[in-house]
Parts: sequence; C-alpha cells; structure tokens
Amino acid sequence: MYKVDFPKDFPKNFLWGGATAANQIEGAWDIDGKGLTTAEVVRKADDRKKMSMNIVDPSSIKAAINDSTTANYPKRRGIDFYHHYKEDIKLFAEMGFKVFRFSIAWARIFPNGDNLQPNEKGFEFYDRVLDELENYGIEPLITLSHYEMPLALTQKQNGWLDRATIADFTRYTEVVFKRYRGRVRYWLTFNEINTGTWGFHETGVVDSHLDKKEQENVRYQALHHQLVASALATKQLHEIDPKAKMGCMLARMQTYPATCRPEDVRAAQMEDQKNLFFTDVQARGEYPEFMNRYFAENGIQIKMAEKDQEILASSPVDFVSFSYYMTTVTSAEAGEEVNGNMATGGRNKYLEESDWGWQIDPIGLRITLNEMWDRYRKPLFIVENGLGALDKLEDGKVHDEYRIDYLRKHIEQMKEAIKDGVQLMGYTMWGPIDLISFSTSEMSKRYGFIYVDQDDEGNGSLKRIRKDSFYWYKKVISSNGADLA
Ligand code: BG6
Repeated sequence: MYKVDFPKDFPKNFLWGGATAANQIEGAWDIDGKGLTTAEVVRKADDRKKMSMNIVDPSSIKAAINDSTTANYPKRRGIDFYHHYKEDIKLFAEMGFKVFRFSIAWARIFPNGDNLQPNEKGFEFYDRVLDELENYGIEPLITLSHYEMPLALTQKQNGWLDRATIADFTRYTEVVFKRYRGRVRYWLTFNEINTGTWGFHETGVVDSHLDKKEQENVRYQALHHQLVASALATKQLHEIDPKAKMGCMLARMQTYPATCRPEDVRAAQMEDQKNLFFTDVQARGEYPEFMNRYFAENGIQIKMAEKDQEILASSPVDFVSFSYYMTTVTSAEAGEEVNGNMATGGRNKYLEESDWGWQIDPIGLRITLNEMWDRYRKPLFIVENGLGALDKLEDGKVHDEYRIDYLRKHIEQMKEAIKDGVQLMGYTMWGPIDLISFSTSEMSKRYGFIYVDQDDEGNGSLKRIRKDSFYWYKKVISSNGADLA
C-alpha cells in the first residue's frame, strides 16, 4: 500500500537567526580607511512613509560629499555595531542563534572600488566579527552587496551601468573568498537584486535625468551586469572553497489577481514572472523566454558580451533565498495602491497593514514557499521577514506582543510549508536588533528583539535592552519551532 510519509516539523539542523546589513548597523563610516558608500549619500526621508531612495542626482551627491556630518545621513552612524559587535553577538548567542546574516561593506575592503590592493584594516573588522561568531558556534551568512557600493564607482563609471564594475566586484569577491576560505559556509551575492529596477540604491546608477523608458533600459542593463557578476562570483566560490554554498536573494513580491477575471489573472501572472525573473536567471542559468518577449515588446535592448550566456549557464546558485514582508494585488487596470517593501502594489481588503502600510499576509508565505520550491527545486532560505513598528520603552521594558504575533503567524506557515514538502534551510528574521531603516533612514521604525536607545536624530546612549520578543524567540529556537506560544 502507498505509504504517506511527510516531514512533520522543522529539520534538526534548521538555521534560526537574524539578518542585518552593514550600512544599517555598522556606523564608523569614515574610519580605518573605509571609502564613502552609495548608502551614505542618500538623505533621510522627509516623509517617513515615503521612500527617499530615488531622489539621488549629481547635485544631491555633491551636497552629501560636502556634508561631513551624520545628521541628514543616519546610515553613516548606524547603531555603532562597529564598536558594539561583541555585546550584540553575545545577545544573539543568548537567544540561541544558529546563524547570523550580515553584509560586508565593499568600501571597507576596496575604498574606491577599483583599488588593486585591499584595505587590511577593513578586513580586520570582519575577522573580529567572525572570531566572535565562532566563539559562540554561530554560523555566518554573508551578503557581499547589500544596498551599497563604493561611491567612487558611481562617480567614475555610473555604478553597475558600466561593464567594468563586474571586474571590480569580482576582484573584491576573490579576496574575500580567499580570506575566509573554510570559515564561512553560506554566502549571498546581491541583496534583493530585483529592486535594482527601482534605481540607485541597488545598482549605484544615477539616472534621474532620463525618462521612464530610458530608465528601465538602463536599469535592466545594470542588472544584467550584476547577474553576470553573480554567476562569476558563484564560480569563484566553488573553485576557492568547494564546501561553501552560494545563494541568490530576491525581494519576493507575491501578488494575487484582483478578481478571477482572466485579464486580472494574466496581469498578476506577468507581475509575478517579472519578480521571479531574477531568480530564474540565477538558479536556472538563463533568461526566461517571457522576459525576452517583454524586453522586445518594450524596446529594451540589453547589451550582452559573447560569453555572457555561457557564464550564466555555467554557475547557477546552490540555494535560493528571499525576503518576505508582504503581498500585493494586481489588476489589469490601475487600482488603489498601498506602500510596501521597495514597491507599491494593489490593496487587498482581506489583509491588515503595518504602521507603514505594508500588507501583512502570513498565508502568503506558505503560498510563496510552495511556488518557489516547485519552480526551482533548490533548498530555500527565508533571509528576511519581520515587522517594523513604533515600540514604546516603559520602565526599561518593551512589551511587543504585536511583533511576537506577526512572527508567530509567519513561522506557523513555514511549518505548514515544510509539511507540504518544501525544503527550507533556515530563517533569519530581519533586524534582530533595532537598526536604521533602509527606506526612510529613521530609527523609530524598529524590527528588533533588542531595543537600541537611539532616536531619529541620533541622540541616546546606544544601550541595548531585551524586549519581550527576545525571550519568546529564545524559546522558539530552543524548542526548534515547536513552542510558538
Ligand atoms: C529589505 C531590505 O527590503 O527590507 C532591508 O533588504 C530593509 O535592508 C528591510 O531594512 C526593511 O525595510 P525598511 O525600509 O523598513 O528598513
């Protein structure tokens, strides 16, 4: 008789932990030889519910360079992880983290991006972070490029628009892989690579002078260079450190059709395909036909070098990672839109929203996990998920029930997906310690289990305080996801 046997729970070696990015935590922006990065010239948002990342042009960059303070550029100060890393990692260890995701700031290693010799002082900081993680048996998961690059490359060659940036990037990845051979098992190339279609923050390309159509062309061209660089870095890693694994990283934007009208279903399918396109290239090694058609019909011409297709095909990633915060609705006609993670999308009347208007959808996570597993058949890793909220510190405590509730509901759906047969390697929730918001550069949009005493202006003692969710997550990890109460 056919015996039904399916996984019932999180696997024993499941990687529980948290995720951060250099430009949102490190601070120490102008010491130990570090170069200025693209993230450090983006002003904080005037309207906290609107993203500031698109307002970058030559004059705003010039103004930023002439401003040597951190007042308008909070990513320059972060939460001073550079000097607090020991204390912070100790707290992660106390929660029982199995893995910690962080990124290396390229400009710490190659301040101008095109230097020929790496900056030893920059490396020494990451050596110390790895030492500390090793002390506690926490596995590092390193992103090589998380929303920043040396600003000098933007000034010299307009970031990733120039093919020369591929060689600059692979010179950086090569020294990093050689330095950390045998010490780091899991890597990611570009954070949320698909958000490069939104401009500067991901590709370092200044294109504010172009019209929408030209911008789209320029952005897909820059992204093509990143896709090639990502494949080359994957190849390098496999050669330098055969036991290490490379993953791609997508801002997964699951979308639903607004109605069952075939026009809406088709519009949603197309939106979804345009989102998954990036993972298609990185995991399957080729541009999918639907995207070639989209490019042809929209006048997008991507210049490829002769060997590019061969490079993409030869080095697909080992695992597929993504961030998951929300879902949207797509209709064949324009409808009411909501804010969201780097994007806007249609409103779903069945879902609640966060204080920043991001639609909360735990079941959507199960749907996404199933779809991505079906499509790629590679181990999946949720490397970001969490709730940005306004926390209140009362008598030295933060009672963040709302955060626990959000995370609990998502973890429950992860468990369901595992029972559906999805191979899920791990879960690093976003911002285990409060950090500077990517989209608005504010401090008061908090995600952490650990409260950091700093306000939007940078005032505060930087003291770290355990929130209620800290103790909850500790229990989740020690019970391997069995106790979510
Ligand atoms: C992800 C980014 O898109 O969302 C992170 O990878 C970011 O860098 C996170 O911080 C949450 O977004 P925000 O704008 O609330 O910080």
